[in-house]
Amino acid sequence: MAVKSPSNGPSGAESATASLDAATQANATAQANGAAAQAASVSPLYRPGLEGVPATQSAICDIDGLRGLLTYRGYPLEQLAAHSSFLETAYLLIWGELPTIFQLRDFEQEVQMHRRVSFRIRDMMKCFPAGGHPMDALQASAASLGLFYSRRALDDPQYVFDAVVRLIAKIPTMVAAFQLIRKGQDPIQPRDDLAYSANFLYMLTEREPDPIAARIFDRCLILHAEHSLNASTFSARVTASTLTDPYAVVASAVGTLAGPLHGGANEDVLEMLEEIGTVEAVEPWLDQAIKARKKIMGFGHREYKVKDPRAVILQKLAEDLFLRFGHDAMYDVAQRLEEVAADRLGPKGIYPNVDFYSGLVYRKLGIPRDLFTPIFAIARTAGWLAHWREQLGANRIYRPTQIYTGSGERSWLPLESRPAVV
Ligand code: COA
Repeated sequence: MAVKSPSNGPSGAESATASLDAATQANATAQANGAAAQAASVSPLYRPGLEGVPATQSAICDIDGLRGLLTYRGYPLEQLAAHSSFLETAYLLIWGELPTIFQLRDFEQEVQMHRRVSFRIRDMMKCFPAGGHPMDALQASAASLGLFYSRRALDDPQYVFDAVVRLIAKIPTMVAAFQLIRKGQDPIQPRDDLAYSANFLYMLTEREPDPIAARIFDRCLILHAEHSLNASTFSARVTASTLTDPYAVVASAVGTLAGPLHGGANEDVLEMLEEIGTVEAVEPWLDQAIKARKKIMGFGHREYKVKDPRAVILQKLAEDLFLRFGHDAMYDVAQRLEEVAADRLGPKGIYPNVDFYSGLVYRKLGIPRDLFTPIFAIARTAGWLAHWREQLGANRIYRPTQIYTGSGERSWLPLESRPAVV
């Protein structure tokens, strides 16, 4: 089908036919566009961001946003944070039940044995630009695991167990390795005598951590291990549904977590607290920010309309850390901000979320800011893998539909016939 040509295009009968076709075409396009626009505006099915649309069934994690409750496999987060370890919680999330003493010992030993990464991966990481973001380095390194463990036997329980162990074991090693490599140093090997979190802090800082600091860090990992179907977990499930390998599943989730609307608000919280500066400055700062319709970092959540239960625990962890290792004046600013914001934002259901106190905790542990999101990824790998297994258990490839809002059908034009763009 021809369409109306610009002045330098075909002429005569050919051009007349083209004009007629063009009119029909324009009409069709207008109709199509109108129909699409109407469909988009009236369809009760279309929910931008899939807000409120159930996209899977899951037995892994439950959130009660009105009462501020979060459970993993039915266990309240507070109990897990108080009594469990990150590896035990990861086992619970991924296999659905708390491990027996033998299962836990076996899992811990397997993870410990697989912490090292191939020298080829370390060499590859040495070629990454030192100024690159650690999340990009992590995504590339996680994806590279698929090259080394390329067998894809998703229905073999041993393959699934080995893949889980490798990812849980190696992701922290890769985060720590990039931290040293970008400083121009060789990564250091994991230490077999150190537990999971203590070993990570050791690989990062080259110093054996204080046991209390290591335990607090382990509890932070528990708090970040899972949070139902958020963007990165949805990404993991979509990738899993194609039956690709678990390394691609985790790499795609890492890429999704890297975006500023998902991971990373805790970095912004620290910047905000530093900008406020003092306790006295909090109230005028907040009033000004609200007047300017600025989002207060570390506040608000799509699911919670009360204080995020993870923020409650993180605040206590921050206090424990400050008692042991010295106070942080920014904590006073944060507390005052929470207090003042309760009056102004509380009535709208806007309270501190998980990111409000976590940055203060990580800062006290001596962790650089741009590693906050990679640490989130270390923890969330447990949740992603739980969703990977669950997806495989009742798989149907994700293939949603769309409401087309583009042009109606039209014909390709040779270059010389296209109207000049002004
Ligand atoms: N500070 C001030 N106002 C906020 C706010 C915040 N942190 N979070 C939400 N609001 C307000 C919005 O301005 C909006 O007000 P309006 O109805 O008068 O326009 C209303 O609450 C709804 O906000 P919306 O962004 O649509 O809510 P959401 O559920 O889509 O957003 C977040 C959830 C987390 C994206 C949002 O609260 C936010 O951006 N928070 C700051 C960033 C952050 O801490 N992210 C980490 C999340 S764990």
